[in-house]
Amino acid sequence: MSDSLPLVIANLKANKTWEEVSLWLDQVGQGCPSFKGTIVLCPSYPFLTAAAQKIKSESLKIKLGSQDLSKFEKGSYTGEVASSQIADLCQYSIIGHSERRQNFAEDDHILAKKAANAKAAGLVPIFCVQNENTPVPKEAELIAYEPLFAIGTGNPDTPQNAATVAKRLKDRGNYTVIYGGSVTPPNVKNFLKKGVIDGVLVGNASLDAESFIDILESASGQ
Ligand code: PGA
Repeated sequence: MSDSLPLVIANLKANKTWEEVSLWLDQVGQGCPSFKGTIVLCPSYPFLTAAAQKIKSESLKIKLGSQDLSKFEKGSYTGEVASSQIADLCQYSIIGHSERRQNFAEDDHILAKKAANAKAAGLVPIFCVQNENTPVPKEAELIAYEPLFAIGTGNPDTPQNAATVAKRLKDRGNYTVIYGGSVTPPNVKNFLKKGVIDGVLVGNASLDAESFIDILESASGQ
């Protein structure tokens, strides 16, 4: 991982119009000049091109990630988006989010293909695991620990347990490990302060630009 830590990643999921994403970029782009880590925005596919153009033309300190990519390299796969298409616009790609594992039956085999495609295209996979035993493809260097009970529930893991899991994952390989699951402005610093967890993946609390900026501010102090 060459980008500076902490990593604070906004996963907008299937939310927001382009107008709203653009406003989010305006607000977050100006919002926290003291933040020295890396901000990554993961909007829906249709907005990646316009977001990349805006970030470039306004020199915003925000990187882009896709929320998924195809298990196929490229070709006749209607509706799919290939890693090589995403890599023109993004630096990162979320792979193996539990919402994809559950709703789209993505298994370890499919996710290994996705991670390999991402890496081959020059993207950094943000590989999501549910616990310290979840298989991790060899291409993954950045892991997001996201326990199922914590995602979108308002019931985060304890910072202590999250740090324990992060440490166990780091014992398995040379990984950057971030935490995701009901991260909020008041709790983010507890996850980052031990220095074991390298960042956060934020869903609900990233939708409101002000609350995301509060997370960046809190993360700056760690
Ligand atoms: P949440 O989502 O912050 O709303 O729990 C996290 C995620 O889905 O990555």
